[in-house]
Amino acid sequence: MDYIVINGQKPLNGTVNISGAKNAAVAILPAAIASNGICVIDNLPQIEDVTTLITAMESFGAQCTLTAPDTLVVDARGVNSWTLDDKLAKNMRASYYFMGALLGKFKEAVVPLPGGCDFGSRPIDYHLKGFIALGATCVQEHGAVKIKADKLRGANIYLDCPSVGATINIMIAAVFAEGTTIIENAAKEPHVVDTANFLNKLGAKIGGAGTNTIRITGVSALGGGEYTVIPDPIETGTYMIAAAITGGDVTVENIIPKHMDSVTAKLREMGCAITEGGDWIRIQSDSTLRPCEIKTAYYPGFPTDLQPQMATLLCRANGTSTITENIFEQRFRYIGELKRLGAQLKVEGRMAVTEGDCEFTGTRVIASDLRAGAALVIAGLCAKGETIIGGVHHLDRGYEKFEEKFRTLGADIKRIQRDG
Ligand code: EPZ
Repeated sequence: MDYIVINGQKPLNGTVNISGAKNAAVAILPAAIASNGICVIDNLPQIEDVTTLITAMESFGAQCTLTAPDTLVVDARGVNSWTLDDKLAKNMRASYYFMGALLGKFKEAVVPLPGGCDFGSRPIDYHLKGFIALGATCVQEHGAVKIKADKLRGANIYLDCPSVGATINIMIAAVFAEGTTIIENAAKEPHVVDTANFLNKLGAKIGGAGTNTIRITGVSALGGGEYTVIPDPIETGTYMIAAAITGGDVTVENIIPKHMDSVTAKLREMGCAITEGGDWIRIQSDSTLRPCEIKTAYYPGFPTDLQPQMATLLCRANGTSTITENIFEQRFRYIGELKRLGAQLKVEGRMAVTEGDCEFTGTRVIASDLRAGAALVIAGLCAKGETIIGGVHHLDRGYEKFEEKFRTLGADIKRIQRDG
């Protein structure tokens, strides 16, 4: 298994190009399976989750061709199966989006229960409740969910919480439901909007994405079309936080600044100088950072996917900060490894507290999930001496060329390839 070696305390300087959004791409690719035409999807991030999804799409009989490193042509007209292989589903949580796509197109889907990051139970009950409201039956057996419907009919669906996955999954299936579906208390994340825009490009009739009420008028089939995935807000925030912790001067480009408002506000509150352009943000920090309170929330609140990275930064602030995780019940598991690098964080239920002024010093650590790995990289970048990070495959799931991108910003970081 590969590992990363970082010699820390080098301020990051320069410009970094942000890739397509992982959490938009992992919804749009399964949704493309529901098309009866040819889809050209551009600005795909070159990450493992995309590679895994392409393999899954081909297993259903779709023709997938990468015409450029970030451009995929999908011909789903030959899709002739609606059962997803267990091995493929285990690697990632977003495999659950095939439920909505296959149920919509074939009125049938057999999809193993999803894998993904391990920070809490992460059920899919809201997804299944939505499918049932549209007229499907859902039976769980042998670790998979079998979903079937004679016909899908529009329904009024109220989500108990604005679940991103449930909103997107139900929306994809509802595209093919007769009549109108209303999803209330819907998630408003940028990748929900991106998936709705993609489906509308193929001929769907979705309105209200980005608000808490989404209206879908059913159509009989979807055609093809070209679509460009939005930039990744979480990758963007990760580089912004890395710039802040190393006392650097970094411009993140090819982004949508509006998507970063909660992160920009918090970094400004901590003392970073931040300027914005049409598609870029510049972060300057002299690494004297003020403490603050972080409360993760659904969009447009502070994203849970930047909580580990922000907690690392707050350990360097000159005073006491609190981080409250309101989305997942156990998203502080990374703190054990972070403490080995010198973080002082005390977890009390949903809140972690740090008194700041932590001195990070390099050692061997292992990433437990994608964003935990990002937090360890950020800590390593400001640690004294050498940090060695294992579990790099977690990072490869969601960050394109991350050691290369950090190197272009002046980080002393390299990947050691190990077989097996
Ligand atoms: C998506 O996960 C993202 N993953 C996660 O990003 C992200 O952390 C999360 O949204 C929140 O923004 C993808 O988009 C592939 P949810 P998802 O449904 O859809 C509970 C990353 O690092 N819930 O919004 O699984 C759930 O347990 C990953 O990129 C139910 O109870 O998140 C959680 O407490 C990590 N029942 C809350 O809702 C359900 O049926 C929000 O989950 C669904 C969710």
